[in-house]
Amino acid sequence: MATTVFEVEKVNALKPLEGKVAIVTGASRGIGAEIAKVLARNGATVVGTYNNSPKHIQDVAKVIEEEGGKFRVIQADVAKFDDTERLASEVVENFGKIDILINNAGITKDRTFRKISKEEWDAVINVNLNGVFNATKAVIKHMLDQNYGRIVSISSIVGQAGAFGQTNYAATKAGILGFTKSLALETASKGITVNAVCPGYIATEMVAAMPKEVLDNIIAKVPMKRLGTPAEVAQAVLFLVQADYVTGQAIAVNGGLYM
Ligand code: CAA
Repeated sequence: MATTVFEVEKVNALKPLEGKVAIVTGASRGIGAEIAKVLARNGATVVGTYNNSPKHIQDVAKVIEEEGGKFRVIQADVAKFDDTERLASEVVENFGKIDILINNAGITKDRTFRKISKEEWDAVINVNLNGVFNATKAVIKHMLDQNYGRIVSISSIVGQAGAFGQTNYAATKAGILGFTKSLALETASKGITVNAVCPGYIATEMVAAMPKEVLDNIIAKVPMKRLGTPAEVAQAVLFLVQADYVTGQAIAVNGGLYM
């Protein structure tokens, strides 16, 4: 029997992530906020985490709710193992499962290595790399039980190429790439894919805080001659959470700055 126009419209109206439950760490601002919005727009129930101030994430919640999306806010410091355990338990209690984890939370404490303090080193390792361990460890058992999961971690061009004044940050972002490939190997036969996205210089508060002349120099070197947008990073994340035969990969979203 021929498909009617009405039926075609109904099929098209189905959002690709309908029924999926996603966690986005660090969803208050910048790239994380945009990923949360894009996943919600595509039908996922999204749990966004913040650490310190709930103000910004309430703005994200408002946008998603106005668009008719499903969004829940949970406070969690990803650097604390117990916080991520609590986060995963709350999500499973409220929504029954966890399908998608976006490890996005990250900080910078830029300083040349000669000057960097032990505290500045530890702070960045604890959030950016131990945070990925903690959040992934908390969700993986649920994904293994259901034989399905999509894990995407936000690395950086800095993890691939290094950057002046960022030994701590670069170590974490390169660490994420090794973590991603190793966990991808361990979970490939269990319905779980593990991938990374490596943003270049994206128009966020983090990049806006760079010294102007350093940033201008970098933009001049970008083949596309501009910063990226959080939405352009979210596009890559959306692809990875829907892809079934892609694992252990790092997709660069950098305007051609590093190939
Ligand atoms: N390249 C070459 N030389 C540099 C330099 C650079 N980018 N930045 C500083 N220098 C030089 C200085 O001129 C100075 O030279 P002299 O000793 O000859 O005077 C020397 O290095 C030391 O400079 P400082 O004493 O100022 O160094 P500092 O320890 O205080 O650190 C800095 C300065 C924090 C590195 C500062 O230059 C800075 O913020 N740079 C930008 C760092 C950066 O790229 N951050 C990216 C943030 S965005 C992000 O991380 C997102 C992402 O994933 C891409």
